[in-house]
Amino acid sequence: MAPNLLDVSNIDLAFGGIKALTSVSLGVPAGKVTAVIGPNGAGKTTLFNVISGFYKAQRGTVTFAGQDLLAQPAHTRSRAGISRTFQNIALFPGMTVAENIKLGAHAHLDTGVFAAALYLGPAAREERAMDRKIDQTVIPLLGLEDSRDRSVSGLPYGLQKRIELARALVTEPKLLMLDEPFAGMNTTEKAKMSGQIRTLVAETDVTVLLIDHDMESIMTMSDQIVVLNFGKVIAAGTPAQVQANPAVIEAYLGAEDAA
Ligand SMILES: Nc1ncnc2c1ncn2[C@@H]1O[C@H](COP(=O)(O)OP(=O)(O)OP(=O)(O)O)[C@@H](O)[C@H]1O
Ligand SMILES: [Mg+2]
Repeated sequence: MAPNLLDVSNIDLAFGGIKALTSVSLGVPAGKVTAVIGPNGAGKTTLFNVISGFYKAQRGTVTFAGQDLLAQPAHTRSRAGISRTFQNIALFPGMTVAENIKLGAHAHLDTGVFAAALYLGPAAREERAMDRKIDQTVIPLLGLEDSRDRSVSGLPYGLQKRIELARALVTEPKLLMLDEPFAGMNTTEKAKMSGQIRTLVAETDVTVLLIDHDMESIMTMSDQIVVLNFGKVIAAGTPAQVQANPAVIEAYLGAEDAA
């Protein structure tokens, strides 16, 4: 077993009377792809928000690379190794692909991309080094060469999702958290995105934690799956184990009945 890069332990978080997370624990092994699945409102995004410091848990611990994250404010260096994308696309439409990616270098988890847009930028030399890294590493890695200088507005949805992924990679995170990377994509786009995520994990030392509803993509690309339902972990294991778990089948059938 690979050691865990991230350990979430006994997290409770309620919004007023709504228990969004109840005693949630999970381990994220280094260098693997872990998926969090579950019906709408299960608490998946809330869990991401606790890990990245947007929400404060009422109980429990989050240990990242051996450090207790909840004991420190979100902006401290310990979270510097964590990068994420959001459930809804958060690109700047008037800017080019390369400019949007570049913003990733300034986008801190606690302030987000909007505050990053106000950032005046690093010294010229650092800026050139970063431009080189973006052009030589990040853009080729995600196959964005042809759209580099195009404005992001009007680009196909799947391409916009890849630009967000590129932006999250600029800081060379240890942990990459993706909230619904396949949402709204067609079959071709999904296959391309899941292939690129697997390539990233194979060729760099990044660890991926992702949320999605697309079962086919999740089942084929994940090493481990954690299932949330009504704020609780109801199952965890390999795709085959989770798929065969009666509690998981029931949670999904129940969700279908209600829909
Ligand atoms: N800031 C908030 N204030 C109040 N309630 C919230 C807040 N954020 C989340 N919730 C509630 O917490 C519960 C879990 O929401 P969450 O967004 O984590 O679900 P999810 O699993 O990501 O769902 P989806 O698949 O639809 O994205 C829901 O009942 C939601 O309404
Ligand atoms: Mg969500």
